[in-house]
Amino acid sequence: MTREPADPVGDPLLGDPLLGDPPLGDPPLGASLLDLACRLAREAGAMAAEGRRRGTPVGDTKSTATDMVTEFDRASEQLIVDGLRAARPDDGLVGEEGSTTAGTSGVHWLIDPIDGTTNFLYGLPGWAVSIAAADTHGTLVGAVYVPALDELFAARRGHGATLDGVPIRCGELADPATALLATGYSYDPGRRALHGERMALVLPRVRDLRRFGAASVDLCHVAAGRVDAYVEEWLGPWDLAAGELIAREAGCRTGDLDGGPARPQQVLVANPALFEPMARVLREAWRARPGIM
Ligand code: IPD
Ligand code: CA
Ligand code: CA
Repeated sequence: MTREPADPVGDPLLGDPLLGDPPLGDPPLGASLLDLACRLAREAGAMAAEGRRRGTPVGDTKSTATDMVTEFDRASEQLIVDGLRAARPDDGLVGEEGSTTAGTSGVHWLIDPIDGTTNFLYGLPGWAVSIAAADTHGTLVGAVYVPALDELFAARRGHGATLDGVPIRCGELADPATALLATGYSYDPGRRALHGERMALVLPRVRDLRRFGAASVDLCHVAAGRVDAYVEEWLGPWDLAAGELIAREAGCRTGDLDGGPARPQQVLVANPALFEPMARVLREAWRARPGIM
């Protein structure tokens, strides 16, 4: 269980030891960052959804022939970056589609303007806008907006996770044999083949597998108890940051398969009772089909 105690950063009583107390009467830093992340995720998601309703978007390929970027991935990132720069000009940021600002405030944003671009391109509902802000202690706030369902997942470190403003908790199931496990596949063909072989070994040992197509949404699904666990490797930092905080704040344990912290290179998320039994099942499959790429 990696749930952190209430964090002093952004706490209205303790102020912010790193970034200075907000002026009297201002909302605490964490709360105002979360409001901003939620507002921009909703605006960008609504814009992209409206664009998608008008027809098939124009797309280009990126790292491989199946790794796509559309005009709306870029437009969504631009909307979010413009909003962040206007509201928080001293913050750093990185967007998946290439935006970067170094920043001087100690707050750093990670943006996936459309997570689940393949779903978006095909007109499937499982895509989201994912925005996180971090400080030197790690992720401070996260927002994941799923336009097709009009669902907004949000979390602030030490303050719990919500779906549309209502607190959420992960499930309690402890037996991998009856667990519903979500996963995802990198765009790299070699990594896909390896992960497929590992999942073929895992499939008979769990209730079933799900491949929804957006890492941030997978993480929120574990947070809301809609699946029992999620495992993936070779993510980008923007895939993981917001959803991992939301999962943790919903009571999940997050980490790699060997007891380390969650990282884009390898992440498992499950309720605390399921985490280690599920990690054992996965480690056996990983050992049977080794190879880090
Ligand atoms: C991808 C999705 C997918 C995951 C991939 C990601 P994108 O992000 O999150 O579910 O399996 O690893 O790259 O390209 O749609 O933003
Ligand atoms: Ca993504
Ligand atoms: Ca993306």
